[in-house]
Amino acid sequence: MSRVAYVNGRYLPHRSSRVHIEDRGFQFADSVYEVIAIRAGQFVDEERHLARLKRSREALELSAPMSDAALKTVLRETVRRNHVADGIVYLQVTRGAAPREFAFPKRARPSLIVTARAQAIADPALIERGVAVITVPDLRWKRPDIKSVSLLPNVLAKQQAKYADAYEAWQVDAYGNVTEGTSSNAWVVNGVGEVVTRQADHSILNGVTRLGLIDIIERAGLRLVERPFSVSEARAAREAFLTSSTNGVLPVVRIDGGAVGDGRPGSLAVTLAAAYRRYMAEGTR
Ligand code: PDD
Repeated sequence: MSRVAYVNGRYLPHRSSRVHIEDRGFQFADSVYEVIAIRAGQFVDEERHLARLKRSREALELSAPMSDAALKTVLRETVRRNHVADGIVYLQVTRGAAPREFAFPKRARPSLIVTARAQAIADPALIERGVAVITVPDLRWKRPDIKSVSLLPNVLAKQQAKYADAYEAWQVDAYGNVTEGTSSNAWVVNGVGEVVTRQADHSILNGVTRLGLIDIIERAGLRLVERPFSVSEARAAREAFLTSSTNGVLPVVRIDGGAVGDGRPGSLAVTLAAAYRRYMAEGTR
């Protein structure tokens, strides 16, 4: 089946889709994006993704390429044309193409590209096994809360994880506290059963999965604490897990080679993973 991409008003064969060489997304990473999970044909938490896109755009003074209603139509049409039932839709808004100059161009129109692809979402086999993470210094700029495509530190950290046969790298700030993964948020469960995740300030991306899981945790009456936690606290934690649109809730069973708890997915993480899969099945909100 041949894939289709949406590029600035047109649906094109994916393999021959192009943006201009002076597109500012390409030149400066002057661009924001979203990845939305599609589960059983439903968009998971679309409104929260669109709200975050708006927030990221506004933080960079980037204007909207079209209304939210039109964008939703393009997202659905791209998903439909690619026959995605379980997978992701990716969208990127750049400041557009203009002669290369650092300051904003006077006359560029924002570019919008949208792609969609089938892939496992919140893969039950992976949840059952759990994954390993390593820790690396957080080398990013001071605004990871903006979902920009300026992802080089994340790319390098993920490659370190790959070299170490790990699934994800948890980035660590100057104080020895975990910020987040390269493309996921980080969580631990401590000895008294508190679920701990870093507060959503400028230092992390406020994950849409993170927000959905916080709703689930609060509804279940579990104790949630939003604060930084250190690498040593994580290594000594009863359980650990990560969250993202593609992984849902995924247990972490090793940190830097050492077992978390007994080295198997924690019972609370497994319960929350199942609850999040049910939440996804409820469809778009
Ligand atoms: N990444 N933190 C970072 C740095 C991320 O890139 C992501 C998502 C998350 C989790 O956010 P959410 O729950 O909204 O997916 C946290 C996406 C999946 C990506 O870049 O592919």
